[in-house]
Amino acid sequence: MTVTVVTGSASGIGAAVAKQLQQAGHRVIGIDRRDADIVADLSTAEGRDAAVAAALKACNGVLDGLVCCAGLGPTASSCGLIVAVNYFGMSELVDGLGDALARGGKPAALLIGSVASAHPGIDKLPMVELMLGRDEAAAKAQADAMANPQAAYAGSKYAITVFARRKAVEWGSRGIRLNVVAPGAVETPLLQASLSDPRYGEAIRNFVSPLGRNGSPDEIAKVVGFMQSEQAGFMHGTVVFVDGGMDALTRLERF
Ligand code: NAI
Repeated sequence: MTVTVVTGSASGIGAAVAKQLQQAGHRVIGIDRRDADIVADLSTAEGRDAAVAAALKACNGVLDGLVCCAGLGPTASSCGLIVAVNYFGMSELVDGLGDALARGGKPAALLIGSVASAHPGIDKLPMVELMLGRDEAAAKAQADAMANPQAAYAGSKYAITVFARRKAVEWGSRGIRLNVVAPGAVETPLLQASLSDPRYGEAIRNFVSPLGRNGSPDEIAKVVGFMQSEQAGFMHGTVVFVDGGMDALTRLERF
């Protein structure tokens, strides 16, 4: 039986990923701030260290899969918190569990990014380099000073995608696949919170994917399950958009 750590396992996409992996016969170690095998706060360095230590104990230091879903949307209480969970809550789990993955069987890791990471100009945000340079205090301060939750969200998702791609050479040589799935709008509590927020609700309702609907958590989880499986054994360092065509709509000639 393979063992996979899933963060954000209590809700939305993470819950759907955990359920589908379990139904396919895999053992899942869920991490979340509530209702999980390992209850931890991934917004703090201490919480992440505790999560990594507990996960290593639960898998006896040998891991076959890691799927990082835990994340916050633009309605989070601060921009710094978005950066802390979405970037550092993923990158530090990847770094902390890398050696355990290297000991696993045909190991694969996957991070949930977002179609928002492809928005024009996001790559130029100063907070992005601070995240990639692992300066958490400065990245959070920069995000809070900018006070633009959507930019903090998109910036955190762009940075985590670059983080994953920068690791492709090293992790490829260690035999660990690492990929990103970038969803468009998916019907989860995170999206619902944005829809209910007067700052974002109308814009989200007006930004409809070419398929004319939002995705479901199960639709994302099916792609994640495939990418984590041996059937996707040659997929590595890539970004897969699962977005009903939103990326094609907004970035027609860039891919
Ligand atoms: P969700 O709100 O249903 O689930 C997120 C999970 O992350 C929750 O269980 C929550 O408790 C956990 N989490 C948040 N902060 C945490 C912390 N400090 N420590 C530990 N766990 C924490 O949201 P959803 O939509 O399932 O989001 C999953 C991922 O998908 C996120 O990374 C999100 O950015 C991404 N995403 C979601 C989209 C959508 O439209 N729903 C679109 C694109 C990306």
